[in-house]
Amino acid sequence: MNFELIYEWSDLFLKGTLITIGISVAGILLGAMLGLVIALGRMARTVYVRWPTDAYVNFFRGTPLLVQVLIIHFGVVPALYGSSNVYIAAILALTLNSAAYCAEIYRAGIQSIDKGQREASYSLGMTHFQAMRFVILPQAVKRMIPAFGNEFIVLVKDSSIVSVIAAPELMYWARSMGAAAYKVWEPYLTAALIYFILTYSLNKLLIYIERKTVTQ
Ligand code: ARG
Repeated sequence: MNFELIYEWSDLFLKGTLITIGISVAGILLGAMLGLVIALGRMARTVYVRWPTDAYVNFFRGTPLLVQVLIIHFGVVPALYGSSNVYIAAILALTLNSAAYCAEIYRAGIQSIDKGQREASYSLGMTHFQAMRFVILPQAVKRMIPAFGNEFIVLVKDSSIVSVIAAPELMYWARSMGAAAYKVWEPYLTAALIYFILTYSLNKLLIYIERKTVTQ
């Protein structure tokens, strides 16, 4: 291990790590918001809403993120803006992909609550909205937290895929260093260690949140 070489590249690794954190957080937040809209669409009564949202989830879960990133970077973003921008393409791809997974987490969480809970709420004279707000969602949200935690960790790691469109995140700099210095262990072990530190801290934070909410 040539630690001096790692030290020479440390500025770029730091810059890459910050960009990895930035695009992951953006993807997670936007994905969780869009996912809620998609989940509501999938639970709608009319097929005209259900069909497109079902197709959305099937497409984004059924095709590789790598392919989605390439389509969005070389096709969708240039078609919308005239030229591509790696940050927009990276965040858009991670958001759209994560939204499909988040939608399923919302839907599974809501539908996992026994229908007796809903029936009991109605029998107390609650409206659909009140039943959701005061009975179903408080229970469902607790069940969603571990699944969301998993989704966040997956997204941090899978953000490395956007290195293929040269978004200058952590994996991009590891690959650049590997190519420039003709080294294997130094760039990739450094990248692995940084990803590990990110996901490990995120995991600790999630365990803390779970302890606060799920097991009261
Ligand atoms: N690695 C898988 C793929 O290439 C999953 C992508 C993202 N996963 C997620 N939970 N958002 O499609």
